[in-house]
Amino acid sequence: MSIKSRIRTIPHYPREGIMFRDITTLLKDPVGLRITIDEIAERYRAEKIDKVVGIESRGFIFAAPVAYALGAGFVPIRKQGKLPAETISCDYQLEYGYDKIEIHADAIDKDDRVLMIDDLIATGGTMEAAIKLVQEMGGKIIECCFVIDLPGVGGSTRLRQQDHPLYSLCSFDD
Ligand code: PRP
Ligand code: MG
Repeated sequence: MSIKSRIRTIPHYPREGIMFRDITTLLKDPVGLRITIDEIAERYRAEKIDKVVGIESRGFIFAAPVAYALGAGFVPIRKQGKLPAETISCDYQLEYGYDKIEIHADAIDKDDRVLMIDDLIATGGTMEAAIKLVQEMGGKIIECCFVIDLPGVGGSTRLRQQDHPLYSLCSFDD
C-alpha cells in the first residue's frame, strides 16, 4: 500500500465541489506514518540540512520528525500573533482576502541550508510567502517538500516557473 492510497478523499468538504485530501488516514497508520517520514528524510539525508521549516499547522506534523531524523533543527512558521518573540511576517492571498504568516527573526541564520515542508500545495500562496520569509533572513532553500501536490490548481507549476525547487510525494490530478 502506497502513501497516496492511504490518503482519504472527502468529496464536497469543506464545501460543494471541493475534494478534500485527508491525511489523517495516512497518519494513523503506523506504516503509513513511518514510510512518509522515511521517504522525505532519505531524500535529504546527504544535503547537510541545518533547519527544517514547517508551516502551521499540518506542515508541523511532517517537519518535526524529518528534522529529528536528519539531525537538523525545526523552525515553525506560524499564523499571525502566535510567536512570542520578534517576528518578520508576510501577507499571502486567500480565496477571499489575505492572511499573514510569521517566523521568529532569529530562527534562520544567514546561509543556513533550509528544507521547507508543508503537507500540501494548491495555489502555492502559503509556500510562496514562507519562501520570502526564509530568503529575507538569508537562508538557502534546498527544496520545498510536500506530501501532496494538487497540480490542477497551478501552484506547483507557478513556483517552479519562479525557479523554486519543489518535490511532492504524490499528486492528485482531479
Ligand atoms: C492548507 C495546507 C497548506 C495550504 C496549501 O493549510 O495545509 O498549508 O493550505 O494551500 P495553498 O497552496 O493554496 O496556499 P491551511 O491554511 O488550510 O491550514 P492548516 O494547515 O492549519 O490546516
Ligand atoms: Mg496548512
